[in-house]
Amino acid sequence: SKRVAVLTSGGDAPGMNACIRAIVIACEHLGYALIGYQHGYNGLINQEYESLSLNATHNLIQQGGTILHSARCEAFKSVQGAKDAARNLNTLGIDTLIVIGGDGSFRGAEHLSQYWPGQILGIPGTIDNDVAGCDATVGYYTAIDTAVSSIDKVRDTADAFERIFLVEVMGRHAGFLALNAALASAADYVIVPELFESEDAELKSIAAQIEARRQLKGPVSFIVVVAENVWPGGLSTLAERLSSQMQSEVRPVTLGHVQRGGSPVSQDRLLATKLGTHAVALVETDKNKVMVGEVNHKPVEVPLKATWENNKPLDDCSLSTMRITMNNRY
Ligand code: F6P
Repeated sequence: SKRVAVLTSGGDAPGMNACIRAIVIACEHLGYALIGYQHGYNGLINQEYESLSLNATHNLIQQGGTILHSARCEAFKSVQGAKDAARNLNTLGIDTLIVIGGDGSFRGAEHLSQYWPGQILGIPGTIDNDVAGCDATVGYYTAIDTAVSSIDKVRDTADAFERIFLVEVMGRHAGFLALNAALASAADYVIVPELFESEDAELKSIAAQIEARRQLKGPVSFIVVVAENVWPGGLSTLAERLSSQMQSEVRPVTLGHVQRGGSPVSQDRLLATKLGTHAVALVETDKNKVMVGEVNHKPVEVPLKATWENNKPLDDCSLSTMRITMNNRY
């Protein structure tokens, strides 16, 4: 009977535990042995693992983080790291390795495949949603909710003081989280890498909108959602420039790692559960080096390489809606 291993790697995301739970249950159902490697690829190099069975699944679906722990593993990028991992997988007689993570984790999986002949399956897990070939990554929906509830709170104090606020949202080099958090919180403006033209152009456009609103209503609050890593010099630089341009106070707020935590929302639990089950269903097939994802609510298998080589554009509908919203505020 088959022997399966699972690990979580890179930035943890809400729903990773739900995914582990689904994998445990599916393996149990099909009579496969399952082990969980701890601390991402570090556990694979150091042979740090535990056997996973149904008792691990109790109260697991709602837990944030990952019971297997995660890491970003530099050593795994080397030939020696991958060879050590291959040897350890062979020692345990593993047939299939399931990697839950983002594109860095999938690059690691592809690297391992040069030294290990077993089956490797990926499941997209990251709050950034920056993995091509799937509509959403596990953790993304929860992170939007977390950002939205924080922006709602910022809105209260921004309104009370009629102040300008900048709210920095995670997403690494992608604007999915920022755009959709901005849309769902009715933010006044959004700055995302995919649309960023120049500092001057963004400042001009923000200033024009604030001026127009001030003429209509007098003092107004104004919330700009800013994707991380987009503004040269960071949020405080933008705050200073905007403050001097508008002759008003500007308060920067960085949401940071709170966006990675918390109990997964049901959309993430469902996605994680379906993808985990689907991955295990592939164990006895010849599918290899693929990510299991969902497109239009249907499972798909995507070659690992395509998940980072292909471009993943922002959703057109969210984009055009945000543009309309930004230009028609009261
Ligand atoms: O990939 C998830 C993520 O939270 C990104 O949004 C962010 O850029 C990065 O990880 C932060 O990494 P770290 O936790 O290592 O600071």
